[in-house]
Amino acid sequence: MPRRNLLSWTVHIRYLSKAASSSSLRQAQGPCRNDKLGIYLKVGFMSKTLICFVVALASLAAQAQTDPEGHQWWQHAVFYEIYPRSFADSNNDGVGDLNGIRSKLDYLKRLGVDAIWISPCYPSPQVDFGYDISDYQNIDPMYGNMKDFDALSTEAKRHGIRIIMDYVPNHTSDKHPWFIDSSSSKNSAHRDWYIWRDGKNGGAPNNWNALFGGSAWKLDSKTNQYYYHFFYPEQPDLNWRNPAVKNAMFDVTRWWYGHGVSGFRLDAVDTLFEDPNLHDNPVKEGKNVYGDPNEENKYNDRLPEVHDILRDLRKVADEHNGVLIGETWTNNIEELKRYYGLNHDEVQLPMNFMFCMVNKLSAPDFRKQIALAESSGGWPTYVISNHDIVRSYDRYGDGNHNDRIAKLMAGLYLTLRGTPIMYYGEELGMKTTPPTRREDVKDPIGKLGWPKEKGRDGERTPMQWNASVNAGFSQVKPWLPVPPTYKTHNVASEAANPDSVLVFYKKLLALRHNNPALLDGNYVPLNEDDPNVISYLRQYKDRAVLVALNMSTTAQEVKFDLAKYGITTGKVTPLLTSGTIPGKTSQLVLPPYAVYIGEIK
Ligand code: NOJ
Repeated sequence: MPRRNLLSWTVHIRYLSKAASSSSLRQAQGPCRNDKLGIYLKVGFMSKTLICFVVALASLAAQAQTDPEGHQWWQHAVFYEIYPRSFADSNNDGVGDLNGIRSKLDYLKRLGVDAIWISPCYPSPQVDFGYDISDYQNIDPMYGNMKDFDALSTEAKRHGIRIIMDYVPNHTSDKHPWFIDSSSSKNSAHRDWYIWRDGKNGGAPNNWNALFGGSAWKLDSKTNQYYYHFFYPEQPDLNWRNPAVKNAMFDVTRWWYGHGVSGFRLDAVDTLFEDPNLHDNPVKEGKNVYGDPNEENKYNDRLPEVHDILRDLRKVADEHNGVLIGETWTNNIEELKRYYGLNHDEVQLPMNFMFCMVNKLSAPDFRKQIALAESSGGWPTYVISNHDIVRSYDRYGDGNHNDRIAKLMAGLYLTLRGTPIMYYGEELGMKTTPPTRREDVKDPIGKLGWPKEKGRDGERTPMQWNASVNAGFSQVKPWLPVPPTYKTHNVASEAANPDSVLVFYKKLLALRHNNPALLDGNYVPLNEDDPNVISYLRQYKDRAVLVALNMSTTAQEVKFDLAKYGITTGKVTPLLTSGTIPGKTSQLVLPPYAVYIGEIK
C-alpha cells in the first residue's frame, strides 16, 4: 500500500485436499446410508429420498469444483494484475480501457496467465484513480460500458482466463449517492451508512490521521459533524456496523458473480472497522512524510470484527466457486493466519506482503519468510509488485544486472508452493519511473508528500507493447509518460529475443503449469545455512524438482545431500536455467544471480 510498507502498514487456504473433500463426502453420505431408521422416523421416506438427492447433488457440485487431487482452481492459477488505465488504449484517448484488455487476451494466454485482476474500473471521480467509487455496479465511461465488460468476460472465458474484480468495501467516493444522501442531513436515510461524529474540544473527534495525510476527520459544514476517512477526504469510510451497508455491499458481489466474475481482490480490508469509542491512537516518535505525527493504528486497523464480515463474504463466494484475494498488510505470520480464518473459512488468498517487503536479495531473509508462510498451514499467496509499490525490477535490481535479477526473482516466487500474483509489465522488466517535477505528479499523495513521497505514478506507467511511438500503448500522449526503457523492454522486442526476461517468464510459467511437482509438491528447504544461495526441492509423489537461486554477486558452488529426502539418484535434468551452469546435481556452480531448475530422476 501506499508506502504503508511501506511505512506503517506495516496461510491455510482452505486447502481442500483430497482428504478433506473425501471426508466431507463421507459426512454427507453418512445419514443416507447408515442412519436409515432415524431418518425414516424423523422425516419419512419421501423426505429421506429428497435429502439423499440433495446431498448427492451437493457432493457432485463440490467435486466439480476441485480437480481429482482435491485442488481448487485458484491453487493452480497464475493471477495477473492489470491497472486498466495503463494496459492498452483501444480508443486512443491516452487512457487504457476494457476493449484494450480484450485485445490483449491472446498475449496473456500465451504468457501463461489464468486469471486477471482488474484494478477498479467502476464509475469514479478518479481522485484515487478508481479507488473512490461512485457506482459499484457499472463501468466508468473512460473504460467502456457494461456491454464491453460482458464482451471481455465472454472472450476471457473463451481464452480460459478468469476475471477478478477489485472490491473496495472500506469506503466509497464522496460522490456516491449513498454519501450524497448521508451528508444531506442528520436524518437522511443513509446518515448511518458512514461514520459521523461530533467534534471534541473545538476540533476533530480524536487524533486519528488519514493514511494519505492530515486528520482522518473532515468537518461537514452543513450538518456540523465530522465524517471519518482512512484515506483521502473524498473517500469516506462506510459504517460496517450498519447491517444495511453489509447487505448492500454483499449484493454488489452477487451482481458481479452474475456477470461471470470469478472472485474479488479485497481492497483495504484491514481497516473496515474502527473502535466505536474512538480512543486516541498511541502516538509514536517523529513525523511521517506528510508532516503528521507518527501513530500506531491501534484503534482503526485490523479490528477483530473484520473476520465476521470476511466469513460471511466467503459464504457468498463459495456459492459461486469464487475466490477472495486479500490486500492484507500484516506484521507477522499470526496476523496473516487470521485472514485465512480459524476454520479456513475467510480469505482463500491473503497476499503475503511480508515476503514482498524483503527489499533486498537475501537468501536467509527469503528462506525465513517462506518457512513462515509454510508454517501457517495455508496455501501461500506470493506477490512481488503491485500498483502501490516500487516495482520489483528496481527494488531488487542493482542497476547493472537488473534483467538477470528479474529472472532470479521470477525463478523464486514462481516456483514456490502457492499462488503467484504478477503485476503487468513485470514480465518485461518494466522500470519504476517516478516523475521528476512536482507539477507532473498525478497521484495526490505525491503532490502532498513531495519530494519525500513522489506518489505511485512511477509504477503505473503504460504497458510497453513495442518500440513504436508511446510504446504501442496509444496513438496519443498517454496519461503518464512511457519510461525511456520501452525501446528495449517491450513485448515485441523481447518476444524475439530468446534471452529476454519475457521469454524466461513464458518458459517458467509453462513449466509451472505442466510440472506436478511445481504445482503441488511439498516445499523442502535445502542447505539452510547457505547465506548466498536459496535452494529447495518441490517434492510430489515420486517426482522432485530442485531449485537453486544464487542471490549473490559472485559465483557459488553448491552441494546437495538428498539421501535424507529419499533421493539416491545423482541425476538431475535441467528444466530451465539462466546463466551458464556447469556441474552435476551433487555439485552445481551457479554464476551470480543464476537460476537453476532441474528435475531429479
Ligand atoms: C489500496 C489500493 O491498492 C490503493 O491503490 C488505494 O489508494 C487504497 N487502497 C485506497 O483505496
